[in-house]
Amino acid sequence: MKVPTCGRAAGKVILLGEHAVVYGRPGLAAGIGRFLTAEVSAEAGAARLETDRAELAADGRPARLLTEAARMLGLPDDGLVIRVRSELPAGVGLGSSAALAVAVLRALAAAAERTLTAAEELAMGTRLEAIFHGHPSGIDPAAAALGTCLRFVRGEPPAITAVRPSAPLRLTIAFHERPRRTSSLVTALRQRWEADRARHERLFDEIGALVDAGARAVADGDIRTLGSAFDRNQALLSELGVSSPEVEALVGSARRAGAFGAKLTGGGGGGAIIAVGGEPERLAAALAATGACTIVTEVGA
Ligand code: MEV
Repeated sequence: MKVPTCGRAAGKVILLGEHAVVYGRPGLAAGIGRFLTAEVSAEAGAARLETDRAELAADGRPARLLTEAARMLGLPDDGLVIRVRSELPAGVGLGSSAALAVAVLRALAAAAERTLTAAEELAMGTRLEAIFHGHPSGIDPAAAALGTCLRFVRGEPPAITAVRPSAPLRLTIAFHERPRRTSSLVTALRQRWEADRARHERLFDEIGALVDAGARAVADGDIRTLGSAFDRNQALLSELGVSSPEVEALVGSARRAGAFGAKLTGGGGGGAIIAVGGEPERLAAALAATGACTIVTEVGA
């Protein structure tokens, strides 16, 4: 084993299509230019994961991820130490668990002196993401691995197409630091889908169509149309039961501050919202005035 080694992966936003993407509809995601880094070294004793993020340290799942990733790469987990530094808040829908999975895989692959193909990285990343929630579509590890804007349809392998913004696409992200679990949202939605498949499939179809309209709007630099797609997607996410009063309040503040559209991003039930249009710094200031943390980011091509 060759150590020390390092792996890095990006945080992400789902621009359109979360949840429906689990059920085979397309999703649109993008890296947000904030990263998580994992450094592998070997020290005597049991495997351990150290992190600068209290939310991750308090969660048993990252340690399971380390053991599982080591097994996938044929490395003994005994004596492995992973130090994680993250620019991503955990548990708010900005892809910190997928970034952790991909960064740990990259660092361990380097330690095992293996080069993973993109397809291997995505397949392994999605299997590791299942530690965090039971039915991952794979869109989060894809965005974490690529860090660009992409249209994604689940599958083995998934269908991934680059979507290149023809004009800079600036987004305002806002969230309260109250971590929630995507797994609970995905599981509860699955139960509702099982109880009434026809209704949910109709909602998923409408979301799928919005994703394609939104991807065209991104490619055309048409942020008004993208904003309308955000608003409609938010209404449909609300009908799916994955919004929350906190999300609705943030989305309402963003719209009142001039956003062309706003929606939750990721699993929902709280967590982060994204807004497009208006003046991003002004939106961020208005959202910060409500007590939210904010990030202004430019979506990468
Ligand atoms: C979470 O970022 C996105 C979900 O659609 C789950 C998934 O696709 O794995 C809610």
